[in-house]
Amino acid sequence: MTYALRISGLRLFFDAVLVHHQFQPASSIARSHSTHSCSSVLIVLEMANIAKLFTVRAQSLVQAAARQPQVATRFASSNSSWEYIKTEVTGEKQNVAVITLNRPKALNALCNGLMMELSTALKSYGKDKNIAAIVLTGSEKAFAAGADIKEMAPNTYSQCIQGNFLNDWTEVARTQKPIIAAVNGYALGGGCELAMMCDIIYAGEKAKFGQPEIALGTIPGAGGTQRLTRAIGKSKAMEMCLTGNMINAQEAEKVGLVSKVIPADQLVAEAVKLGEKIGTHSSLIVQLCKESVNTAYETTLQEGLKFERRTFHATFSTADRKEGMQAFVEKRPAKFTNE
Ligand code: CAA
Repeated sequence: MTYALRISGLRLFFDAVLVHHQFQPASSIARSHSTHSCSSVLIVLEMANIAKLFTVRAQSLVQAAARQPQVATRFASSNSSWEYIKTEVTGEKQNVAVITLNRPKALNALCNGLMMELSTALKSYGKDKNIAAIVLTGSEKAFAAGADIKEMAPNTYSQCIQGNFLNDWTEVARTQKPIIAAVNGYALGGGCELAMMCDIIYAGEKAKFGQPEIALGTIPGAGGTQRLTRAIGKSKAMEMCLTGNMINAQEAEKVGLVSKVIPADQLVAEAVKLGEKIGTHSSLIVQLCKESVNTAYETTLQEGLKFERRTFHATFSTADRKEGMQAFVEKRPAKFTNE
């Protein structure tokens, strides 16, 4: 659901609550105040409604984050029955999950089985309160060379529509924990899209990014035309999507697609270190911060700024905000409880 829809939905809900409690929605109250300027009353009441809306939304975010299951589900950390991925939990505090795409003969082409396993592992780590961040990586030759062309080649239009083809790829973007893509080798088509669904991309020196679908007579279908354009701007994204040309790691860093280029053999270790650094903070506040940054992609600047401000205000209802500031004042490290 778009942010605008969520906002209008919340507005309707808020007005409905007002009516239920025998208050009137802002617009009708304003109409009844004939002694005042109608428009100024309306504006003041609208502002009050919007402010409450954002408070309600921000508070519900804090509550939802705090409701994370307390029981750790760590099956994915040691699951050896995967066919297309490998999983492990690592880091000094054993709080960073590494998911490795493991279909080397097909350059990690993203077949249905692989995407289902990836979703399962992500859901599991997403619920695991001991996991602070997730690293998603592939092999040295390929992060992923795209959707599995051989598997999807026989698809018909009606099958794509009726089966909602690629809809189940969205788990990565839905995961509330931070995900770092560690990209070595090819990240093409769905592989590039998968990396862009993650929150941060680190690239190995030989990484290559591209959206070559045009050469197959199709277009990117898992966010390439949208996320790439937002990440690197229209001209460059258009050039990549219309030509199918790849860019290398250095260029990807220059245009802001990746945040760092690292020697290939150190890539995963550096991504894990990044996950560990994130893991030193409150996971509750990390989740709110991730949601706030992501909101920048979903809405206008004004609405995004309001969302950020209310979420910032909402952090003042958390124990971790109190502890973080207290620890600074007392010149000691903060002890976060994720509450
Ligand atoms: N799907 C299925 N199989 C793939 C694949 C893919 N996307 N990419 C590579 N493979 C397979 C090859 O068929 C080959 O298998 P066989 O040994 O059985 O023939 C094996 O992986 C090794 O590949 P190559 O021999 O081609 O390796 P290479 O080093 O010569 O070339 C490459 C590497 C440039 C990445 C090349 O494999 C390639 O161009 N792959 C396709 C890239 C692509 O077009 N991706 C977009 C897919 S469409 C999509 O992703 C839609 C979407 O938006 C979701």
